[in-house]
Amino acid sequence: SFRIRLARSGRELLVPAGVPIIAVLEEAGVPVETSCRQGACGTCLVNVLEGTPDHRDSFLLPDEQKEGHCLMTCVSRSLSPTLVLDL
Ligand code: FES
Repeated sequence: SFRIRLARSGRELLVPAGVPIIAVLEEAGVPVETSCRQGACGTCLVNVLEGTPDHRDSFLLPDEQKEGHCLMTCVSRSLSPTLVLDL
């Protein structure tokens, strides 16, 4: 598991193992648009302000994944204990 912090509200949410970030956001009433939910379309992209994403998508280019400035909330996880998202 890891935590996400929503930069605009300061809210911190726990993302349990096996639960997608998008599901945690929906549960918390934070709307993010989605489409494929398989990491392929890029619709659910959210910018990352701090932390290191574990991408797992097939949308971003390798360089973009390495930069780590955004992630797909439907499939991506975190390599750091906390991710700060631009939400
Ligand atoms: Fe398509 Fe997340 S909904 S990449």
